[in-house]
Amino acid sequence: MTDKWPDCGRILELAADPARRTRRLSIGKLDFSRPFIPEEFTQLYHSPVYRTLTREQRLRYNQLFAVRTNEYIMMLESDLVDHFLVPLRRNRAVRADAALRACLDTMIAEEREHYQGFLALNRLCLPQVFRDGRERYFSRLSGGYKLLLWLLRAGARRLAYPMWYIMALEESSIGLARAMKKNPRTPTLGPLEPSFMAVHLEHMKDETRHLHTDRRLISACISAASPFWRRLDAALFKMMIREFTVIRRNGSGARVIRHLVREMPELAPGEEELITALEELKHNETYQRSLFSRPLMPLTFGIFDETEELAGLERILAGYDRPD
Ligand SMILES: [Fe+2]
Ligand SMILES: [Fe+2]
Repeated sequence: MTDKWPDCGRILELAADPARRTRRLSIGKLDFSRPFIPEEFTQLYHSPVYRTLTREQRLRYNQLFAVRTNEYIMMLESDLVDHFLVPLRRNRAVRADAALRACLDTMIAEEREHYQGFLALNRLCLPQVFRDGRERYFSRLSGGYKLLLWLLRAGARRLAYPMWYIMALEESSIGLARAMKKNPRTPTLGPLEPSFMAVHLEHMKDETRHLHTDRRLISACISAASPFWRRLDAALFKMMIREFTVIRRNGSGARVIRHLVREMPELAPGEEELITALEELKHNETYQRSLFSRPLMPLTFGIFDETEELAGLERILAGYDRPD
């Protein structure tokens, strides 16, 4: 492994530095006259139908989609932590390396803390919805998803392909925070809500370090495995990407639209049009690139590039451009 990446000892040193650790912010309330996330990080922004919505409708859509975005990050911080990162401790390569295990344990503990922070933020965003103690609203656990989680857990001793996905998610959450910082003013909705943005900027601190841990785990658990296991990891990763990037009529993005229509019944006659516009995004390259692209996740794409077994990934992941 050619390597400018910090080793495990250095990662643990960085993790011990309070200035580089994510703090839990205490936020009293949010300003609902402002958007929560950059418009280009929402789905409908990439569809012509977005321009037909009023400012008030676009603003509320943005705020609801932001809750869904937090839930997406929380999916890693809870489901992938419990069903993959915790069982990954039993992986042969991790068991053999105390420093790597310490990095993994630090990451697990930090993700659990982030989960609570995003849950608290979502409760401020949608107090009525989360009043009953629920922790997810737009993302629900389907039978197929639960089966996938079971498979991740069952395979974690030998198969570490979810690490590639985790790294992509972590780098994209950093990409979102960077985009907020770089341009806190949205194209049509004015400046971002400062407290919502502050939570994402804090989150970026631990996540930047997690990318280093991801790199170490990928090297130890995937790159160092035999060709058979590497090929199997790559095949399963491609299946996982297909499953996780598909847009469904009853998926979390559609549930955001349905909630918006319930809050703004004047949109009811156009609900079907909005859902269809969402489905059409699967053919929309700009949208696909907003999820996975080299500017958004340069380090993860660098790892994809150097992994021979991931040849052909560009056919599944529209935003991936594999160098010749
Ligand atoms: Fe996190
Ligand atoms: Fe993370």
